[in-house]
Amino acid sequence: MAKARETWESHWGMIAAMIGTAIGLGNIWRFPYLCGKYGGASFLIPYIILLLGVAIFAMMCEWVLGRHTKRDPLGAFEKIKFPFGRDIGAWGVIGPFFLYSYYIVITSWVIFFVFASLEGLYFGKDTEAYFALFLGSKWIFLVHFLAVCLTSGILALGVRKGIERACKIMIPALFVLLIIVAIRSVTLPGAWEGIEFYMRPRWAGLLDPETWIAALGQVFFTLSLGMGAMLIYGSYMKDEWGIPQNALAVTLGNTSASILAGFAIFPAAFALGFGNVIGKAESIGLTFFVLPKVFEAMPGGHLFGGMFFILLAFGAISSAISIQEPAIAWLKDEVGWPRKKSALITGAILWVMGFPFILNGFVKGGIGAKLALLSKMDTIIGQLAIPVFGILAIIAVGYFMGNRGFDEMNKNARVKLSHTPIRFWIRAVVPIFVGLLFILSLIKILQSNGVMPVILPVSQGAGFTSIGITPITIVMMALIAILFWGGFIYFTARVLIVERDKQRRVARGLHHSD
Ligand code: ALA
Repeated sequence: MAKARETWESHWGMIAAMIGTAIGLGNIWRFPYLCGKYGGASFLIPYIILLLGVAIFAMMCEWVLGRHTKRDPLGAFEKIKFPFGRDIGAWGVIGPFFLYSYYIVITSWVIFFVFASLEGLYFGKDTEAYFALFLGSKWIFLVHFLAVCLTSGILALGVRKGIERACKIMIPALFVLLIIVAIRSVTLPGAWEGIEFYMRPRWAGLLDPETWIAALGQVFFTLSLGMGAMLIYGSYMKDEWGIPQNALAVTLGNTSASILAGFAIFPAAFALGFGNVIGKAESIGLTFFVLPKVFEAMPGGHLFGGMFFILLAFGAISSAISIQEPAIAWLKDEVGWPRKKSALITGAILWVMGFPFILNGFVKGGIGAKLALLSKMDTIIGQLAIPVFGILAIIAVGYFMGNRGFDEMNKNARVKLSHTPIRFWIRAVVPIFVGLLFILSLIKILQSNGVMPVILPVSQGAGFTSIGITPITIVMMALIAILFWGGFIYFTARVLIVERDKQRRVARGLHHSD
């Protein structure tokens, strides 16, 4: 008899795993940086519109495809009879391989910086020179190997004992550490200017088309869409869990962490005199040489720096495992290999695939030269590959699954989504936005490489001059707190209450039958 497919063990475990794939480097280094660059809360407005209007539907489509077919990406597209289903679905296995190959290299830098912070290795040094030195040192090989072993080891243990258990530890720990670091940051004297930079809407940013393009890219990246991750995690979902309310809980949970990350970074940076630098820093620089300066200047900086990099490592590892999992599921489902062997072999291939990015760190020159390959790969994967695969799941549900897709979405949902408007939205509106993201990204890449004339203006960011905290900044903060943190707490609490009641009913049932 065929072995039953693995599923998440508990509802809370499933939410932790889903939030685990979503929260990652994108939340902690990319989101705050984009907010700062595109005008604080002015970036949040397009971000929230696109998150709740577009990305959440794309995520539900990936879950629907995964849960309905209970297969890996190849098998899922084949099962619903998508044209060239196996070839198309193969992208959901191959694409994440390329993403993982450099994502894990960044994860390994984070792991190194946990120790570097706790030991104070960069304290008193030029942090940019220190980071450049690290990129060309033997340590990178060690931490990269460790990171690959860690994700492969977790995955070898399986869906419940590996992914779910790891996320149930890492995700709550990440939130606790993030709250501690954020409290430290906002309580430093002079922190208000950072809060103002982060939260004051600077309307020039809202009118800049690049803000919208950046927000669209971010909502896809942050929800791990178009990476095979949500599809495969959806295939482990039990039928009794309604998709819409869980999608909302995961989306709000993910964004709660992003918003907290900004409160952990900007107030401290401004309070300690790095406001000018941080407002201009590119995202990688922000994390690996501007923040170390901030920790160095902060009372208790060793500890808070260590905590910050630990929580970032938790986020990165919980995402990296979800990016490696589609290949493992494919080897299990289609090739018939046992999980442990699949984890070992994928780990070995992915380890080798990281070498080009590592060896690039040994070239002579500045940080830009050492990260050139990684930046190119990030652009190709983040701006082109993700939208392409993301749109396929939407088309699969919208056009090829017919009623089966929408029924799956509503199965056991407490609040059912009405078929006609939701069908229109998923068939017409969502693909338009994703297609737009693809086209605009392509134009940006071509024009920045001189292949086509400049037709999209190059944004200089929204700029910042402090005018002190105004009522609108306070209103924005209150709205965000209510919408994201309140919503996340409410939906997660509901999940936990439903879970507890169910366990009580099961216990009573068992009791009766005893
Ligand atoms: N969603 C993951 C992140 O934000 C990939 O890092």
